[in-house]
Amino acid sequence: MAGKMIGMMSWYSSPAARDWTSPSAPGDAYAFHRSLPGYAPTPLVPVPAIAAELGVGQVLVKDESSRLGLPAFKILGASWACRQVLEGRPGATLVTATDGNHGRAVARMAAHFGVGATVFVPAVMLPQAAARLAEEGAQVVWVDGDYDAAVRRAAEFAGAWPGRALVQDTAWDGYEEVPAWIVQGYQTLLEEVDAQLDGPPDLVVVPVGVGSLAEGVVRHYRRPGAAHPRVLLAEPDTAACVLASLTAGRPVTVPTAATVMAGLNCGTVSASAWPVLRAGCDAAVAVSDDDALRAAGDLGRLGVSSGPSGAATLAGVRAALTGPGRRAAIGLDDDAVVVLLSTEGHTR
Ligand SMILES: Cc1ncc(COP(=O)(O)O)c(C=O)c1O
Repeated sequence: MAGKMIGMMSWYSSPAARDWTSPSAPGDAYAFHRSLPGYAPTPLVPVPAIAAELGVGQVLVKDESSRLGLPAFKILGASWACRQVLEGRPGATLVTATDGNHGRAVARMAAHFGVGATVFVPAVMLPQAAARLAEEGAQVVWVDGDYDAAVRRAAEFAGAWPGRALVQDTAWDGYEEVPAWIVQGYQTLLEEVDAQLDGPPDLVVVPVGVGSLAEGVVRHYRRPGAAHPRVLLAEPDTAACVLASLTAGRPVTVPTAATVMAGLNCGTVSASAWPVLRAGCDAAVAVSDDDALRAAGDLGRLGVSSGPSGAATLAGVRAALTGPGRRAAIGLDDDAVVVLLSTEGHTR
């Protein structure tokens, strides 16, 4: 096993991960995003009060509350993947499954490109989240099951007719090309962080659903020639599939339940994320709904609009840096620069 676990399924660390180097991931997503109407880099906001609380030099929050007209980062991946898919299959109806943000982004891009969108949603989705998909013009299909079940239904539906194309943000055996485009799309966020900082950060904290964003982060910060900051993953304690997999040393599917961190409510790690996370992720931590809500409230009071899925990073870094033994395992100095990826704005 690459790492070790302290406590019941809530913490994992792997000191060797920092030394791993990722093969570089090519892609022109950044240039494409900059060509889209309304593109602007999202802010990287210093929060000195949190830095003082955590005993580090600086904490900066990448604020994804307004990204290309939507309140989450997901359109970075969806836009690039939809563009690539439609280049190969012009006019196809775009099909996906979602726990909220990805489906909304795919529906928005389908409208942008003038094609239809069909979005499968799990039973636990809040009706207002489903309504926002319909407002984007998507046909919404409820699935009597969880997120993993919705993904299976979407894949079956897309495969049943050649005029449909699946744009899913998680990979499995035989479905790798589109998720790779999604991960490439997320690189824009990291390119922006690089441009906004004077030097490399010491720790980057990432919220995790299926692990595609985390895959992008690890690939970026472990690319040849990059400084190797630590990467900490934060997951809901009710859907900690990556933590469970890292602990077991193999992909493990976990049962999931409703959580306020709706965007992270996934039970199976992406097959293409898995080897990257196993090799290159320093630490992972599970956070509770209460801690994520408190973190979202704290960020809000500090002027950063953040929903529980994005604020899971603040809850996670708190749990990592204040837990006995954990801070030492991460190995941060008192003057460390910490970046929290707050991947969505305040949710209604
Ligand atoms: C707001 C938000 N943050 C983080 C994530 C996690 O991304 P991934 O599923 O790639 O791990 C999601 C996924 O939908 C999300 O909606």
